Amino acid sequence: MPSPFSLDNPAGYRAWRARKLADYPRSIEALRVPIRRLAEPNRTEVAALLERLAKCNMALVDCGDPAQIRPDALLQLGKRLGLRHTDHHLCADAHAVSTIRVEAAGRASALIPYTNRPLNWHTDGYYNPPERAVCAWMLFCRQDAARGGENALLDPEIAYLRLRDQDPELIQALLHPQTLGVPGNAEAGPDRRETTFGPVFAWPQGALEMRYTARARHVIWHSSPAVAAAREALTRLFSGNEDFIYRHKLRPGEGYISNNVLHNRSGFQATDPSVPGRTLLRVRYLERIDG
Ligand SMILES: [Fe+2]
Repeated sequence: MPSPFSLDNPAGYRAWRARKLADYPRSIEALRVPIRRLAEPNRTEVAALLERLAKCNMALVDCGDPAQIRPDALLQLGKRLGLRHTDHHLCADAHAVSTIRVEAAGRASALIPYTNRPLNWHTDGYYNPPERAVCAWMLFCRQDAARGGENALLDPEIAYLRLRDQDPELIQALLHPQTLGVPGNAEAGPDRRETTFGPVFAWPQGALEMRYTARARHVIWHSSPAVAAAREALTRLFSGNEDFIYRHKLRPGEGYISNNVLHNRSGFQATDPSVPGRTLLRVRYLERIDG
């Protein structure tokens, strides 16, 4: 059966579109799932998570206790959802969990996620080669900022749907394997990265995958009027009145689990270096959560 995402399958797309939009939640609160013990979610809790992920590609977890936000607990939760291969290693271990906080010094301090500056719209791992595509991630909050640090989130399937409804040519432009390139770096050792090219939208294993960054520097967009139009359409989508963009500030004990949804982060108030500031834990996976 041809994919509903294929432009050659308008009837399949229409049926998928109707299912997708039927009762699509307008608020992220509908995606909230209380979990008593993060490391050992019970069957009902797992089913509630999978149901939300199946509909919206994301869920908002609430364990109510920042002390539970630990690397081992996150990895255990991931395993219960079928997530075993992290972006960092082929097997998930504690090193695969990143701590996202303001870093005053060192290599991380040069990267925007580790500052208090806003982060523009992106999917995670857009610089990975297609065979190491990030398909899911978790982001949990141990401590929030006094002011700022909100996220906006958008299901990539909704982004695809809006663009296709506007003009299928916009999708066509984003399917080409050379659409978006990210230059490699000159680092030595395991952090070395080759230049990678890939499409923005693809469905190599059936499910829609999106690879995107709104950043203007260190990216190579295919130079064509069609790609420029598609990029503008995405920018308009992010800045317009899209009903299904969720805006939320993670509180301590809360976290997102997602099939690599689009997201951004607002800037936030930094604290004195002697006081612990906004602290999140993140894990990225090479497989998606399908239930
Ligand atoms: Fe991200």
